[in-house]
Amino acid sequence: METMKNKPTIFVTRRWPAKAEAALSQYFTPTFNQSDTPLSPDELAAGFASHDALAPTVSDSVDADIIAAGAGGTGRLVANFGVGVNHIDLAAARQAGIAISNTPGVLTDATADLALTLILMLTRRAGEGERELRAGHWQGWGPTHLVGQSLQGKTLGIIGMGRIGKAVAHRAALGFGMKIVFSNRSRITDITGYPAQQMDDIDAVCRVADILSLHCAATPETMHILNADRLAMMQPHACVINTARGDVVDEAALAKALHAGQIGGAGLDVYQNEPDIAPLLLAAPNTVLLPHLGSATSETRTAMGLKVVENARAFFAGNALIDPVV
Ligand code: DGY
Repeated sequence: METMKNKPTIFVTRRWPAKAEAALSQYFTPTFNQSDTPLSPDELAAGFASHDALAPTVSDSVDADIIAAGAGGTGRLVANFGVGVNHIDLAAARQAGIAISNTPGVLTDATADLALTLILMLTRRAGEGERELRAGHWQGWGPTHLVGQSLQGKTLGIIGMGRIGKAVAHRAALGFGMKIVFSNRSRITDITGYPAQQMDDIDAVCRVADILSLHCAATPETMHILNADRLAMMQPHACVINTARGDVVDEAALAKALHAGQIGGAGLDVYQNEPDIAPLLLAAPNTVLLPHLGSATSETRTAMGLKVVENARAFFAGNALIDPVV
């Protein structure tokens, strides 16, 4: 672990892109986790307690004990490297007077691109094809070999029409000629350039979608928002795409639906117990499984780090957080 002096201190739980680490070091005295492996709860608690700020990622569970350790020491801010904050106990932070920031906006395009990657890999059977070729089983071109589905004219159903949902809809409508239907808690009135129909409820979206893509935040209200009942409403050829959070899908029900042929397939980037994948899901047919790559471009990861820096600078200058969560 490396530290510098005379600036607010920040405990960084994982390594960042070089440019973001350099920007952080310009304004703070950072302690970087040189091993870049997940830290234990005790290490996180000790790190937060002995620094002014903690900069965790989605793979760190910042629970009430860690918040309490920070508040009992010098910790004042959790500046999350990422937009999702379901790994942080927000109620505990609120109660302890610990501020929380995140990094919205900068990972919208990368995550939307990855949702499209999953849609294309699944509908064009790209994973299957690559596995077949690498295993030496490809027998050559054939009119019925690994035929998939076209996207043109198909219906993309989106649950959660926030920044990322809209970016996926934009790409799918204008790039691939898909029809867009969606559900969202509040009425959405700012979609221009392509038709998109807001449905009255999630069930209606599940019923008509050829591809159903989840883009809602993980909260107690959205836990298992795609459950066995809703999977049963889907068309037998329809596919589920999840680049949001594992918790928004009932994974056991999804695996069962895939094994039973009740739905057509699933393309997933996020899981309930990352990095452990449920064996039933691993063995399910017609699935593309990626290891949480939504924001994984060097531009985006750098921008995420720079957002952490901006938020922490604002906070320690006594100003309002740019991206306040708590
Ligand atoms: C986030 O920022 O919440 C993403 O899931 C990390 O890629």
